[in-house]
Parts: sequence; C-alpha cells; structure tokens
Amino acid sequence: MDNNMVIHQQPDRVTVVEVGPRDGLQNEKGVVATADKIRFIDLLSAAGYPVIEATSFVSPKAIPQLGDAAEVMAGITRRPGIRYTALVPNRKGMERALAAQVDEVAVFTGASESFVQHNINTSIAGSIENFRSVVEMARAAGMRVRGYVSTAFGCPYEGAVAPAAVLSVTEQLLALGVDEISIGDTIGVATPNQVSSLTALLKDAVPIERLAMHFHDTRGTALANVLAALQAGITIFDSSAGGLGGCPYAPGASGNLATEDLLYMLHGMGIETGINLEAVIAASRFLASVRGMAPASRYYAAATAER
Ligand code: HMG
Ligand code: MG
Repeated sequence: MDNNMVIHQQPDRVTVVEVGPRDGLQNEKGVVATADKIRFIDLLSAAGYPVIEATSFVSPKAIPQLGDAAEVMAGITRRPGIRYTALVPNRKGMERALAAQVDEVAVFTGASESFVQHNINTSIAGSIENFRSVVEMARAAGMRVRGYVSTAFGCPYEGAVAPAAVLSVTEQLLALGVDEISIGDTIGVATPNQVSSLTALLKDAVPIERLAMHFHDTRGTALANVLAALQAGITIFDSSAGGLGGCPYAPGASGNLATEDLLYMLHGMGIETGINLEAVIAASRFLASVRGMAPASRYYAAATAER
C-alpha cells in the first residue's frame, strides 16, 4: 500500500475547550481591564466554541488577575449553545459561581503533592475532601462538573510524576461524581509516547469520551501530543486563543497550546470543531492590542504575515 494512504485512527469531530480567558488571563503581569476581558470573551463567543472557560472564582489574594470574575460573568453576552464555565476551588468559590450563574464549574487538583500545596494550599486528599461539597452543590443546581488533574506529566517542584499517581487522583475525582477529567501538562514537559502510555492506563478507569487533554506548549510538543492523544481516541482538547496561559504557581510554564494552531491542524486533518478560525484570530488580535504584545500562536504569526 502507498504509505501516504495510511489513515490512522482519528475522530470526525473534536470538542475544543477555550481556556484563554481563564488560564491566559490568570497569568498576566499587567492588569487587563474588566471591559477588555468582556470584549475578548464576546469575540471568542462569535467564533462558535462549544465551551469557554471564562474565569475563576478563586481567592483574589491567590489570583488578583481574576478578582473581577463576577463582573466578567455579568458583562458578557452569552450565546446559546456555548457553555460558560469557571474554576472553583472550594464552597466559597461555588457560592460565587452559583450567584454568577455559570453553566458548569471545574474543580482542580493535581498528581503531585508539592504543586497542589503551592496552588491551593492543601494536600491532594484535602482537595478531594473540599470538592465533595462543591460537587454536591453543583449537582443540586443541575450543573456539570469538570475535574482537572494538573502536573500529570511533570511537576515544577518534584520533577517526574508517576502515571499511577495520575490514575489515583482521576479515580478519586470520578468517585466524587465529576463528569469530565482534564489531564493537565501544567509545565509543558510531555512527549507523545508518554501521552500514549498515560491514556492507555487511564482508559480502563475513565470512558474515553469523558477524558480531555490540557497541554501547555512550553517545549513545543503540544501539537505532537494532541496527535498521540487523537490516536488514543481522545476527543476533547483545551487550548487558548493566541497561546496565552500559565499558572502563577507553576514557575517556568508558558502558554497553553494556541487555539489557532490546534484548529489549523485539526481542520487540515478533516476533523470538525465547529469553530471559525478567522474569528479566533480576531479575538487574539484584539487582546494583542490590549496587551501590546504579539500572540505566541504560530498560525496567527503566519496568517498575519500573509496579509
Ligand atoms: P487559603 O488561604 O487556604 O483559603 O487558600 P482560606 O479558606 O483559608 O481563606 C483565606 C481567605 O481567602 C479568606 O479571606 C477567604 O474568605 C478567602 P479573608 O478572611 O482572609 O479575608 N477565600 C476566597 N475568596 C474568594 N473566593 C474564594 C475563596 N476561598 C477563600 N473561592 C485557596 C485556598 C484554594 C482559596 C487559594 O489557594 C486559591 O484560591 N488558589 C487558587 C490558585 C489558582 O487559581 N491557580 C491557578 C488555577 S490552576 C491551573 O492553572 C492549572 C490548570 O490550568 C490545569 C493545568 O494546566 O494543569 C487548571
Ligand atoms: Mg493550565
């Protein structure tokens, strides 16, 4: 057979979760005005995403950049068909998220103790305990819940992370009743073979359609990792417009995989997302003008140079 004709396993359609307004803007050095965040999210909404992670209801002492979460949620124009979600670390965050009428919440922990301690000031076991009432409150409100497992491929404080640790936290989140698990390469160290072996391990614990991948692109391996995950049957990917992103409690981590780069690859492979790439570029262009900085997206740079 002609080698060019070999078609590897791939889905027809993928769900792209836009995390730029949260993962991106939580890491900004300068202040992004509330009105600009609202405009950014409204522009993203025009691109037709299924899910936009709009903000976080965390402690404003921990993340002052997102202290205006309630104002942002109140100010955006919600489009039918888009789920607007937010991160919630505890009961207080859940109460604020309910008051802001988010469509879905995400609890977040990790596979390494030191990162979880730095990030949310508790142990992994303590985080699971805190999430119990958050998930109950979400259920009572008929809300979907996502669970993040950070540092799944490496920790900024401990180095290598055992796949068994990722599996254990994933199982604990599922036991709480979390609907979807997002596996986070928080510091962008993963390589494709690791993605293949971790997904093979997790597949037995989580139905594959409930598993998402959240790659940061610190070392340029994010798209290669997406390909490995696609071949393993994963159909949910997180990305951020323009490649914004990073966690203030993960030193050295850079932005998420850029949505533009992800869409270019998926659409080019014949995989549908329902998202308009040009509209994502328009949102990134707006935010770049606010930040006075060019986006990290490779596709954005190429598309801009061609114009
Ligand atoms: P703590 O200090 O242990 O909390 O922080 P506490 O319960 O002792 O409360 C301390 C103060 O914070 C109190 O106020 C609380 O009311 C207030 P005070 O009495 O001192 O005035 N507080 C809150 N205020 C508003 N909203 C809340 C809230 N909770 C407490 N929800 C805590 C623990 C978890 C709150 C804190 O560490 C925190 O907010 N951490 C969030 C850190 C964060 O957002 N990191 C980035 C997101 S994770 C990420 O980026 C990774 C991801 O992208 C995936 C990946 O890449 O791997 C998701
Ligand atoms: Mg992240």
